[in-house]
Amino acid sequence: MSDNRAQFGTKLGVIATTVGSAVGLGNIWRFPYEAGTHGGGAFLLIYIFFIFVIGVPVICAEFIMGRSTRRNIFGAFRMLHTRRQWAWIGYMGILASILILSFYSVVAGWTLEYLGQSAAGIVASTDGVAGNGGGFDDFSTGWRPVMWTLIFLAFNAVIVLRGVRKGIEKASNILMPVLFLLLLAFCVNSLFMSGAKEGLEFLFKPDFSKVDSSVLIGALGQAFFSLSIGLGTMMIYSSYFSEETPLVKSAALTASLDTLVAILAGVIIFPAVFIFNCEPAAGPKLVFEVLPEIFHQLPGGVVWSTLFFFLLFLASLTSTISMSEICVAFFCEQLGLSRRRAALLNTAIAMGLGTLCAMSFGSLSGLKIFGLTIFNLFDYAASNIMLPLGGMLISVFVGWFIDRNVVKAQLKGTGTISEGFLRLIVFSLKYVAPAGIGLVFLAGLGII
Ligand code: PHE
Repeated sequence: MSDNRAQFGTKLGVIATTVGSAVGLGNIWRFPYEAGTHGGGAFLLIYIFFIFVIGVPVICAEFIMGRSTRRNIFGAFRMLHTRRQWAWIGYMGILASILILSFYSVVAGWTLEYLGQSAAGIVASTDGVAGNGGGFDDFSTGWRPVMWTLIFLAFNAVIVLRGVRKGIEKASNILMPVLFLLLLAFCVNSLFMSGAKEGLEFLFKPDFSKVDSSVLIGALGQAFFSLSIGLGTMMIYSSYFSEETPLVKSAALTASLDTLVAILAGVIIFPAVFIFNCEPAAGPKLVFEVLPEIFHQLPGGVVWSTLFFFLLFLASLTSTISMSEICVAFFCEQLGLSRRRAALLNTAIAMGLGTLCAMSFGSLSGLKIFGLTIFNLFDYAASNIMLPLGGMLISVFVGWFIDRNVVKAQLKGTGTISEGFLRLIVFSLKYVAPAGIGLVFLAGLGII
């Protein structure tokens, strides 16, 4: 099986695909609004702490499981342990991937609307996604988001159907660096806006008096969401790695680049939030209201805006492809479906649930479960509960339950790694990551 399985072509391909999965709306849309609702500076610090102290070891754990078994999350647990119950973590990952794909596609659909508007020569403004009349609120409560969600999922399906290597690897090799450069340029622009100081202080000056359990849960969920971990994405991607790929280095590089992009997004957004009198805690719409303001005051705003939303759309695609792959690999490898059928089934489910998520800003906005709209419920349940729980169980599994030689052999690969470093990672997997996640959960439940 492992012999004829597809593998990523080049070293750059490995990094571009894992970074492509990690970098997406999570960094540019979700990070600023989470940081905004959770008070800014302190959230950022706690977030970075979670990324490196918990996130990187969990990525390593997923890499170890994926490359040693060359299976999807469910199959990997089955192969590494005789106890069948472990594979339940696989079911949770698959469920999380579907929930995330559903609400994520709605936001990706918003970017398509903004892309379409900009390409038509109109930059949206806060008083109206122009040509549409009444601003983001008006747009998001109408029927167009449903249409865009379905269109986005259709794009996603086409690429997932083309398989692992051919499709997106090539495109992301070129386009992710372009996105990065564009973000850098916007960042410089924001830094030079008069009045940038307030925004930067909000983002970088920690005020720990604002930290409560919701900030901790938010930061942990954001770290897992942004790194695409806890549900088997990094696991399935590493199942396509060659033996030469250095796991720890790739994990650290992915986490660093991902964090860098989130911080850039923050530096772009927050000065503008304060200059244009927006509300940092505006929630999911924050970035979609603030960015158009930035484009408005830029010379050639339409061009910048078109380019930006195009690249953001592609960045979203490289992320949704990775979440689809979890489910598609499961359907193919465990249920014996053809790749085509698997991709279509995944798309059909996401289209159904995605429609509900899109409508939860409009006609279904009154439908609340645990006080949350469907969109927010999917996001909260997947990002803040399932992913950290999945990550905790994956690290416990790799730290305590699988053969230490497998762990060592994978971390070493064909290169070298010092004994001390190896021990540090195993220690993190055994104690630090599970305890850290456990403590955040206990705080969230009000137990500590
Ligand atoms: N990490 C992606 C982002 O930041 C989202 C994602 C989550 C992708 C889970 C795959 C799995 O946009």
